[in-house]
Amino acid sequence: MRTIHVIGIGAGDPDYVTSQAIRALNHTDVFFAMDKGEAKSDLVALRREICARFIDEPGYRFVELPDPKRAAEGDYTRAVADWHSARAELWARAIETELGPDGVGAFLAWGDPSLYDSTLRILDEVARHIEFHYDVIPGITAIQALTARHRIPLNDVGEPVLITTGRQLRKTGLTGSAVVMLDGDCAFLGCPPQTRIWWGAYLGTGDEMLVSGTVGEVGERIAALRAAARAQHGWIMDIYLLRA
Ligand SMILES: C[S@@+](CC[C@H](N)C(=O)[O-])C[C@H]1O[C@@H](n2cnc3c(N)ncnc32)[C@H](O)[C@@H]1O
Repeated sequence: MRTIHVIGIGAGDPDYVTSQAIRALNHTDVFFAMDKGEAKSDLVALRREICARFIDEPGYRFVELPDPKRAAEGDYTRAVADWHSARAELWARAIETELGPDGVGAFLAWGDPSLYDSTLRILDEVARHIEFHYDVIPGITAIQALTARHRIPLNDVGEPVLITTGRQLRKTGLTGSAVVMLDGDCAFLGCPPQTRIWWGAYLGTGDEMLVSGTVGEVGERIAALRAAARAQHGWIMDIYLLRA
């Protein structure tokens, strides 16, 4: 039967790639990659660099899967579900045509595949179209990269931590500790000034930036750094931990 590895490659530093991931990389004939356009070409390059560095016998191929367009208007949840279905059909066709009956393919997931990543949801839908086996190799997430670089624990003693998005933080406000990802718009600026923040951008890469303090002290500085970095690179990946 065809096999697909979903491999967490860590959130930026090639040294985050685990021994288990290296074994799976070396076991793969075809890497399926989503074509996300020019802006993310640095990320595509990093994936290729990881393959070049860790694979001993380079007999593998990359197959680019075009990304179907997501409806810009109407109900958001419906639009995402339709987009996942369109991707699932495309992936099913690609797996069938690109892999032999016992072939091994892989999807390289940034960080860990379980965290704000749709690969597993889509593969679950692919499994309704075609028969194949798949497994998941965990990776170091942006959350671990952030806490390691700031040398801080994720949670306060015996306390929970919420993992959320900028959009949700703006809607619900902050109680306790929260990790905020996928924030296009500096949602932390809406928190009270005494809120503590540990912020990191491009973690694990040569462009890494780290800032910590209270929102009152460092909030505007982070917003300015963010805007400058986004203008320079054309895209930004940042994450932060907040404590009320
Ligand atoms: C689509 S999610 C994917 C998360 C990924 N699966 C993980 O395990 O970290 C992308 C978000 O993760 C965060 N992120 C991922 N890599 C990062 C990095 N190297 N530095 C800062 N933030 C990062 C950012 O909040 C970004 O908007």
